[in-house]
Amino acid sequence: MRTVVWMISVLSLVLGAAGQGKALVSEARPGIAYHEQVMFLDKKIVEAGDVVWVTLAYGDPRASRDCRNIIDVFNGRQLFVDIPEKSWVRVDFTLRSLVVQAGFSGDADVGKVVACPDEKACRNLQAQRLRDQKPAKPAEKTQTSVSSSGLNDDIQRMSQARNLVKVARCRGCHVVEGFGASHAPSLTWRRAKYQDGWLAAYLAAPYRLRPALTSLMMLRYTSALAQPSLQPEELSLVADFLQRLAWFTPPAGRFRLEPWQTYQCQPCHARLYAERPLVFIPSPVPQSLRKKMEESLSVKACLGCHTFGEVQTLASLSGPPYPYPMAPDLLLVLEKLRLDYFIDYVRDPKYLQPDTAMPKLQFSDLQHGEIREWARYVQQLMRQGKVQPIHLYYQMQKRP
Ligand code: HEC
Ligand code: HEC
Ligand code: HEC
Repeated sequence: MRTVVWMISVLSLVLGAAGQGKALVSEARPGIAYHEQVMFLDKKIVEAGDVVWVTLAYGDPRASRDCRNIIDVFNGRQLFVDIPEKSWVRVDFTLRSLVVQAGFSGDADVGKVVACPDEKACRNLQAQRLRDQKPAKPAEKTQTSVSSSGLNDDIQRMSQARNLVKVARCRGCHVVEGFGASHAPSLTWRRAKYQDGWLAAYLAAPYRLRPALTSLMMLRYTSALAQPSLQPEELSLVADFLQRLAWFTPPAGRFRLEPWQTYQCQPCHARLYAERPLVFIPSPVPQSLRKKMEESLSVKACLGCHTFGEVQTLASLSGPPYPYPMAPDLLLVLEKLRLDYFIDYVRDPKYLQPDTAMPKLQFSDLQHGEIREWARYVQQLMRQGKVQPIHLYYQMQKRP
């Protein structure tokens, strides 16, 4: 019962904020704080002394089969190093993303964790702590006044978008919500990924982001040649859906029935693209930025696999064949991604994108700091118009 109440309050919070056009997570909206939550440490993976995975559940899944409410821990996993799996804990965390579908799953950054002997002791201690401390309630109250119609609208929008993805057969090339073909970048990830407005703009007029991905181009669904040809409002529905829900796996069974294996978009479009390829033109990079990049060993490490405009072009990488055809141009990536997603991705690519081809780099905190500073600087130069990325659009031709 307690869990249900908690779930509804979170649901209305998150969907409420989203209903006003905001993404689940952003730098401006750093998450929702929870204190003294009684949780079950359901899964913990340790590799060479590092805690690499922690899943917390709102109940013991062995005791109740319908307890599917879970949270994965991102920052703060190391705090669980001495706590055995399958034990009860009290945690303070900041919820960073949440997806609701037959239970909920989300991810959080944990600030504090205390182990308890058993569930009862944990709940008693929790009650006592909350009585003693009366911690300032997180700013939930002011935000929760969401009408149920707002919530229903939101759920309806999401399912419309899901149907559009199905009708447009995006899974002929992409993994969406955990399944589909892998000819194009995966559209399954955790946390809010893209800068505001980027996705809708990209879907309306897609351009090349991956210089070594020479077999295929993202298609323009607003084109009159497209079947179906999608309206701008439909594209923003899809964009909203991808930003908020695309990371969720596994999806409901009925969506799994989509016969994406038979779509065959890739062979035909790969052939059309080979007939009329689009040469990648690297974006210009100002001298001051080049100099800054040359000084940083950490940034140079990225250039072993990624291009960055004119600084590192495909020609200066040691291919072909390029071992990492999915690696995008980092300049275009910085135009596309939120800074916090970018940084978290570099720290642990597999966590944010389970099927990623990018390996985890053995970087120190200092090096991560250096990458962050550089990324922030590049994004600032772009906002000021001092770096202007080149976008290359592909024009399909009507065939007889
Ligand atoms: C014929 C194959 C194909 C189909 C079908 C397709 N895409 Fe793509 N898509 C691509 C390719 C290839 C790229 C990578 C382009 C690049 O990086 O230059 C891409 C890139 C993207 C990106 C950018 C990802 C990123 O972060 O770099 C998004 C978003 C996207 N597609 C969404 C969709 C959606 C939504 C649909 C369905 C409406 C769809 N795609 C259908 C081939 C396809
Ligand atoms: C038999 C070859 C073939 C197959 C298979 C195919 N396409 Fe196409 N597609 C084309 C051709 C040719 C065009 C150019 C428009 C025309 O002549 O009708 C096109 C155009 C498009 C466009 C419009 C792009 C633009 O820029 O105008 C979209 C979107 C598209 N296809 C999506 C898909 C999807 C999704 C699939 C898989 C379900 C797919 N196509 C399978 C041949 C194919
Ligand atoms: C060993 C090769 C390699 C190195 C080194 C590397 N990357 Fe990557 N990176 C990749 C590949 C491959 C992908 C595409 C992953 C995919 O979609 O499967 C990628 C993807 C990314 C993405 C996600 C982009 C997106 O569109 O979702 C970011 C961000 C990124 N890399 C940043 C960096 C930074 C910053 C560095 C340097 C600190 C770096 N990478 C070093 C191979 C590498």
